[in-house]
Amino acid sequence: MLVLIDNANLYEIESLYTEYPYDGVTTNPTILRNEHADPIKQLKAIRELLPKTSQLHAQVVSSTTEGMIQEAHFMLDNIADDMFIKIPVSAAGMKAIHLLKEEGVNITATAIYTAMQAFMAGKAGARYAAPYVNRLDNMGADGVQVATDIHNMFRIHNMESDVLAASFKNSQQVLNLCRKGIGAVTAAPDVLRSLIKHDATFTAEENFEEDYYSLINEVKGFRMKKN
Ligand code: E4P
Repeated sequence: MLVLIDNANLYEIESLYTEYPYDGVTTNPTILRNEHADPIKQLKAIRELLPKTSQLHAQVVSSTTEGMIQEAHFMLDNIADDMFIKIPVSAAGMKAIHLLKEEGVNITATAIYTAMQAFMAGKAGARYAAPYVNRLDNMGADGVQVATDIHNMFRIHNMESDVLAASFKNSQQVLNLCRKGIGAVTAAPDVLRSLIKHDATFTAEENFEEDYYSLINEVKGFRMKKN
């Protein structure tokens, strides 16, 4: 399962990458607005910061097929030609997905609230489908279940698409999808850090360190490292 960072802050992305080898970055217009910078320059800077093997996903904002395709071309020409173009699954979006796929563009279908939207996007050519897990939970639906249904449908129908689950509030939602074997998740920095951090691990580490130093005080001349 790929694990991506849903954020556009250079400092945050760099600091997360120093803590863990993540698989890429996803953004949306709201996330980019938080940076108060030229979005194309910001996305370019993110691309330059990321390792070559990491993915970058950025979203179009037009509501027409023609507009979406123009924006996709602009991003591919000005940011990176192998980046993933996120396209919302409106009727215009489905057509844009199909036409861009014919050009060989990597597409992430986004703003997905039902399993059938994801299926249709996959059939049109999306490499990833991004259901909004927490937003679904907040609407009284079961976000993890919707994402799992999409994953199962992609596998049953032998489609070359994967779930890139998005919109998480907590590590439990991520765990539940990890158990199902879905392709990828993208989450905000606080949720990503909560996948690793556990106070009991910190306490155990501290106790081992204390015991080690108490041992070397006891055994004269003992050193783990040469110095
Ligand atoms: C990703 O495609 C979405 O834009 C994003 O994860 C939505 O997250 P939110 O529900 O926390 O805004």
